[in-house]
Amino acid sequence: MDVISTLAAMIDWSRKKRQSGQTIALVPTMGCLHAGHIALLREASRRADLVVVSIFVNPTQFGPNEDLARYPRPFADDCRLAEEAGVAVLFAPGAGDMYSSALQSAIHVSRVSRGLCGASRPGHFDGVATVVAKLFNITAPHIAVFGEKDLQQLVVIKAMARDLNFDLQIISHPIIREDNGLAMSSRNRYLHGAERQSALCLFHALRHARRLVQDGEKDCLRIMQSIQNRLAADPLVTVDYVKIVDNTTLVEHEQVTGSSVLAMAVKIGQTRLLDNGALTDVQ
Ligand code: PAJ
Repeated sequence: MDVISTLAAMIDWSRKKRQSGQTIALVPTMGCLHAGHIALLREASRRADLVVVSIFVNPTQFGPNEDLARYPRPFADDCRLAEEAGVAVLFAPGAGDMYSSALQSAIHVSRVSRGLCGASRPGHFDGVATVVAKLFNITAPHIAVFGEKDLQQLVVIKAMARDLNFDLQIISHPIIREDNGLAMSSRNRYLHGAERQSALCLFHALRHARRLVQDGEKDCLRIMQSIQNRLAADPLVTVDYVKIVDNTTLVEHEQVTGSSVLAMAVKIGQTRLLDNGALTDVQ
C-alpha cells in the first residue's frame, strides 16, 4: 500500500492508473477506521481494480463548538487496517495543502442539505460537499462508496454528483452495526460507562418503530411521538431530531410507505450520534 500525502502526487498516481486502463474506487473517510469503513473498502475492491481510501479530518464541516480538535486520529492503526483491506493508496493530505489560505469557492447543495442534521449544523453539508468534490477531482475515481449510516450525506453527495456532472458512480453501503445493534461510528470512542448503554437507544427506537409499523400503525406523527418519548425517557439522551422521511428525497412522510426511513440524531453527553433505517420490509 502506498501512503500519499500531497495533492500533486495523488493526481499524478490517479491519472497514470487511468491511462493504463485500471479502474479506481474512492472511499472518503475521516479516519479512525472501524468495521463500517472496512465494509466500504471491501465493497470498493469488489467493484474496481484499485481502491483509494482518503483520510482527512475536514475542518470545513465542523462547527465552531464541535469536536474537530479532539476527533480521534489513530493514524498507524488506520494504515494497518487499510493495508489489511487490500487498499492500493491511503491518501492523507494536510489541511494546508487541501485548503490554501486563498480559498474562496465552495459547493452548496440546497434542498436536501436543509433539514435533519443540516438544521442543527449550519454549513456542515457545504463543507462535506466541497471536500468530497475536491477529493473526486484529485483522485479521479470511477466509483465512490458511501455509507447509509450518514443518509443525508449520501443524498447530498448524490445530488452534487448529478447536478455538477461528475463522471463517476456513487455506490451506497448498508449500515454496519455492533452485535448489540449500535451503529459503528468513530465517535463511539467518546462514549464511556453508562453512555454506551444509553447509545443503544437509537437501535432500540428503530426496532420499536418497526414493530409499531408491523402492528399496523401508519401515521408518522404518532410513530415519531412514540419514539421521541422513548428517547427522552433516558436522562443521558438529548434528542436533536426524530423524523420519518423518504429514503431518496428526504421529504417528510405523513404516512409510512415502502420508502419511509426513520432518521434520528441524539446527543449522549457531548457525543452526537446518528442512526436510521427502513420501516418496512426489514428482514
Ligand atoms: P466518516 O465519518 O469517517 O465516514 C466515512 C464513510 O464511512 C461515510 O460514507 C460513512 O457513511 C461511512 N460509515 C461510517 N460508519 C458506518 C457504518 N457503521 N456502516 C456503514 N458505513 C459507515 O463521513 C465522513 O467521514 C465525512 O463526512 C467525509 C465523507 C469523509 C467527508 O469529509
